[in-house]
Amino acid sequence: DEKKLKKFYIGSIDQGTTSTRFIIFDGTGQPVAQHQIEFTQMHPESGWHEHDPMEILETVEQCIEKATHAFIDKGHDIADIKAIGITNQRETTVVWDTHTGKPLHNAIAWPDTRTKGLVRELKTREGADQLQDICGLPLSTYPSSVKLLWLLDNVDAVRKAYDEGRLSFGTIDTFLLYHLNGGKEKDVFVTDATNASRTMFMNLHSVQYDDKLLDFFRLDRKKLRLPKIVPSSCPESYGSLASGPLKGLRIAGCLGDQSAALVGQQGFTPGSAKNTYGTGCFLLYNVGEKPVISQHGLLATIAYDFGRERKPVYALEGSIAVAGSGVKFLMDNLGFVTHSHKISDLAASVKDNGGCVFVTAFSGLFAPYWIDDAKGTIFGITQHTERGHIARATLEATCFQTKAILDAMELDSGHKLAELAVDGGMSNSNLCMQTQANIIGIPVDRPAMRETTSLGAAIAAGFAVDIWKEFDELKEINQKDRMIFEPNISKEESSKMFKKWGRAVEMCRGWLD
Ligand code: G3P
Repeated sequence: DEKKLKKFYIGSIDQGTTSTRFIIFDGTGQPVAQHQIEFTQMHPESGWHEHDPMEILETVEQCIEKATHAFIDKGHDIADIKAIGITNQRETTVVWDTHTGKPLHNAIAWPDTRTKGLVRELKTREGADQLQDICGLPLSTYPSSVKLLWLLDNVDAVRKAYDEGRLSFGTIDTFLLYHLNGGKEKDVFVTDATNASRTMFMNLHSVQYDDKLLDFFRLDRKKLRLPKIVPSSCPESYGSLASGPLKGLRIAGCLGDQSAALVGQQGFTPGSAKNTYGTGCFLLYNVGEKPVISQHGLLATIAYDFGRERKPVYALEGSIAVAGSGVKFLMDNLGFVTHSHKISDLAASVKDNGGCVFVTAFSGLFAPYWIDDAKGTIFGITQHTERGHIARATLEATCFQTKAILDAMELDSGHKLAELAVDGGMSNSNLCMQTQANIIGIPVDRPAMRETTSLGAAIAAGFAVDIWKEFDELKEINQKDRMIFEPNISKEESSKMFKKWGRAVEMCRGWLD
């Protein structure tokens, strides 16, 4: 019952693209203490996007410290925190020296497009057309594989470590787990199935690394250390915190952030879906215990793997590279507003987009289009155009791309979604969510507590330590005060808007560097 559950707490590390948080949830899924820190985004060249992995680690440690102190200050006892879950930005690639544990380069972040040329070359390699059937992902600048190849080809220290058999590869989950456990002494070197499914090294069907994939990328497993793939909810593989105020606390759950959001939204039945408007925006659609390889520009991925006697569950995914980062662009690069939440007010200062369409293709254009050479492009500018129109067109870009993804999903799955669950920063904007409902023509359902990504990692950890045993036990969590946005424009009006978007997408192709 509620009283008993409140006595349990679970910590959740959410390491996102632009910020890190640590949230402590009680057994009813309510956050009781939290801390968030933004970290440095490095763009050494146009299209490049890097993070300092050690800075990321520091933000995690600081967030744990600050949130734990807030937890204690509120009169709670840290002995009641039963476990920790981790969720993270996916694909972002880190390499380190197995002997020293030190990173050999900045992390290459998932939106980075430096591998554009390399991808073009790889597409012509024999076997390229079989990759997606094995790993679920198309060749693009997005997955970890091409980022690792770039590092091997361009950074001497990385190549040398590889040749000498001391190169460790990891996504952010692996890097954090390794260091939070104390680094090379303990040498906890694992990844969960959801994160591994973003590398292009894992066979989606067997949930193991596949030599066919590694051979395609000409990677030698004797020279490259790959983390062991384990379930997302797992009491024994993730170790425990080696230092800080929660020293000794067990880490029991780990999921890529989009998988965590699906779990946090309780998308446990085939046919359920969620859309998370973070730095990028990612729609995950639960397809059950067998993967569906997309024929229409979506990705097949592991949704979650709760281990024990349960089979891994798969999802179809529509990935949008730019959502909150579009708002950040208006704020940081163009100085439109000083706080991101004010973009919604600016967009509301005009009655519509005034004929403006903004294809925010800053990383090429992801799903369902996969146009590597697309560039961000604004159409329909006139003397009448104001900042409000551009703000509105920026929010609408994610909504239009979501519509294109839902259309593709319907073609792949044969089912039309009845309602879309949403979360993430941009979902705070009522204007944006109403626009979303209008464009997709189905209701949009938003929870009151929107930290669903963190909640999902806490749920994975909670299952591992037997706080919950069945998904059914979660059904009260985060159900109160949800807000439903019903479509309120005609079908004709919405398809007219979407047609214009389609034309704009065609015109954003083919921008040569
Ligand atoms: O695939 C990238 C994704 O995991 C990043 O998520 O929330 O940081 O945009 P987010």
